[in-house]
Amino acid sequence: MSDKVAYSRHGEIAVLRVQNPPVNALSQEVRAGLLEKLMQAEADEGVKAVVIVGEGRAFIAGADIKEFGKPPQEPWLPDVCNRIEASPLIVVASMHGVSLGGGLEVALSAHYRVAQPSARVGLPEVHLGLLPGAGGTQRLPRLTGAEKAIDVITTGRHIKAAAALELGIIDKVSEGDPEAVGLAYAQDLLDTGAERRPVSELPGPDPIDWDATYDAVLKKGRGQISPAQAVRAVQASAEMPFDEGLKAERKMFMDLMQTDQRQGMIHAFFSERAVSNLPELKGVEPRALQSIGVIGGGTMGAGIATACLLAGMNVVLIEMSDDAAAAAKERIAGNLSGALKRGKISQEKYDKLLGVALEVSQNYDSLKDVDLVIEAVFEDMGVKKEVFGKLDAVCKPGCVLASNTSYLDVDEIAASTSRPEDVIGLHFFSPAHVMKLLEVVVADKTATDVTATGFALGKALGKVCVRAGVCDGFIGNRILAHYRDALGHLVLDGASPFQIDSALVDFGLAMGPHAVSDLAGLDIGWATRKRKAPHRHPEERIPTYIDRLCEQGHFGQKTGEGYYIYEKGKRGGTPNPKIPELIKAEQEELGITPRDFSDEEIVRRYMCAMVNEAAKVVGEGIAKRPLDVDMVLLFGYGFPRYWGGPMKWADIQGLPKVLEWIRSYAEEDAWFWQPAPLLEKLVAEGRTFDDLNKEASA
Ligand code: 3HC
Ligand code: NAI
Repeated sequence: MSDKVAYSRHGEIAVLRVQNPPVNALSQEVRAGLLEKLMQAEADEGVKAVVIVGEGRAFIAGADIKEFGKPPQEPWLPDVCNRIEASPLIVVASMHGVSLGGGLEVALSAHYRVAQPSARVGLPEVHLGLLPGAGGTQRLPRLTGAEKAIDVITTGRHIKAAAALELGIIDKVSEGDPEAVGLAYAQDLLDTGAERRPVSELPGPDPIDWDATYDAVLKKGRGQISPAQAVRAVQASAEMPFDEGLKAERKMFMDLMQTDQRQGMIHAFFSERAVSNLPELKGVEPRALQSIGVIGGGTMGAGIATACLLAGMNVVLIEMSDDAAAAAKERIAGNLSGALKRGKISQEKYDKLLGVALEVSQNYDSLKDVDLVIEAVFEDMGVKKEVFGKLDAVCKPGCVLASNTSYLDVDEIAASTSRPEDVIGLHFFSPAHVMKLLEVVVADKTATDVTATGFALGKALGKVCVRAGVCDGFIGNRILAHYRDALGHLVLDGASPFQIDSALVDFGLAMGPHAVSDLAGLDIGWATRKRKAPHRHPEERIPTYIDRLCEQGHFGQKTGEGYYIYEKGKRGGTPNPKIPELIKAEQEELGITPRDFSDEEIVRRYMCAMVNEAAKVVGEGIAKRPLDVDMVLLFGYGFPRYWGGPMKWADIQGLPKVLEWIRSYAEEDAWFWQPAPLLEKLVAEGRTFDDLNKEASA
């Protein structure tokens, strides 16, 4: 007997209540319970209809993701759905909260569907590297037509009740207690003599241009397989009888279950939730966060101020001059008008945020009442120390003093104040009101409740927060610097920047790294190279061919020329013919004979450099767990989600293999390719990065 589904009788109607907190996932016990209680209803004399409802905050959020990767246990969800649909009783699904994946598939197997106005439905399986596997690809198109079903399934988006009604996914929207709403609807159906209405008996959808749709979805998915595969499953609903279509769907679902992409995406799902779950923060109360100070209203300061305003906080922004203050306000207004245009805020709210919630000042005294200050001035230790000295003098006791520095030593910044325990790094990514990542950089003396406040701020701003320790570049920029160097070596040794970009886009990156440099501005890297040049190790290999372009005033997209040439009004660029010449000149100067690299080799070296440095970052405690690195790369650096992150990628390849590759590269360049001690240790012990994740959360 399963107690995950409760049975109750109300006159001629039986209620099956799914009760599997927190979100009623369809675990084996729930599936068995649904079958058992359905049969109980059918055997219960006088029962003519069944209402399925969910307990708590959702109808049903889908299959139990924790069961994936393990041998499937009976009863299988498609069979449960078919059995619900085949019931001789009238079956009503009364939906509230979310009905996702298998949850919507259960509802689609009911004969009628009613939902609360606030309910949302969707088939988000593609976000887990899967497609709907319990009839969703066969039943949904019979209700909506192929094109709309493909849109719903391949985007995995959540659809509000009103839109679901319009699409024909649900039959009615009604507000009230879900059980009462379901009972009233079922009674109405019985009173009006309504009949069972199995979706599977409706005709399949009209055909569309399947191949063109498949190609378009494949391209949009940038290498992700499951959305494109879902197009083929919907095609089956148009071309095959229902039962055969269902078998075809099941086969595709089970095939996808075996893929690396499914593993990667499910790792991402759980890591995204685990990342802010840190033992050190258990039970620690964050400090207040009503008003925020921001120092510097340039690219980052304006973005941070925008994010705080949109989250309902008051912001005091400090700039150096009238002109700079006006420019900062204009930047924030520009950001907010973007939100206005996208319908995220009303005109009234826009006016309020800009006119009331934001204060731009040149006087540090304006900061005396704020709860937390984020400094985003020039990346210069002297300037930062001066600013922190002023903050120390004016801010109230207990005010959190944060720096948005990209690379500088937060311990040193903290030491320049009389209250290092209140100092922390809050490293936002550009544009700060858009990018999801926030590195919370914990310095030596940072108080635990200050760390908790950093996480609380990130949460209020809708960010994915990752704890980082202090080092040059923290987690993300430190790893980035390393894999960018590996790409530099590849170029010096013979791979063209254009081949590298194309190989890495095929691997799943949104943009090639050289195209990204053009977008960010080549002057940034040039300045860094000049700054670091005197401190280089004699064996360090850093190509300088691109500096020749910078010397001529070409900085990438903003000047129209970089690795690529950009024509006005056109998106993307074409390879700059000067680049191969500049590379050739540098190779000749260094006496390098260029060789060919396959795309596979390029990806492998890029990934090995990333993983090796990431393993050092974890080994040194800069990141607490491998999953923290994965989330930084996913949310801050456009790493393809379907790989789960670099550490998951390494686990999937097998750590012994990754270490073997690194050792083989070390034969060419032992200085750069020094294997991370943690990687060597894990290989020696036969363990994985994921083992470390599990140990940390045990
Ligand atoms: N299975 C198992 N656990 C689940 C789950 C699921 N389907 N959905 C959510 N959870 C867990 C989360 O891991 C989290 O656990 P934790 O508290 O231990 O970290 C807890 O439920 C609460 O989840 P959130 O923190 O995400 O809560 P939110 O309120 O922010 O979001 C949600 C709720 C919208 C349901 C969100 O969790 C979500 O999107 N879940 C995934 C839904 C999904 O992908 N369903 C399809 C599954 S695949 C499928 O159904 C296959 C079928 O076609 C055969
Ligand atoms: P920016 O040059 O666009 O803006 C800096 C602003 O600070 C200028 O408007 C300047 O007038 C103001 N400023 C300088 N000294 C000041 C002072 N003493 N008091 C008040 N205002 C002062 O620089 P950006 O790009 O916004 O960077 C700021 C910080 O954020 C740097 O530490 C940088 O490393 C970091 N950062 C930058 C990212 C980026 O992508 N640009 C990403 C993440 C962090």
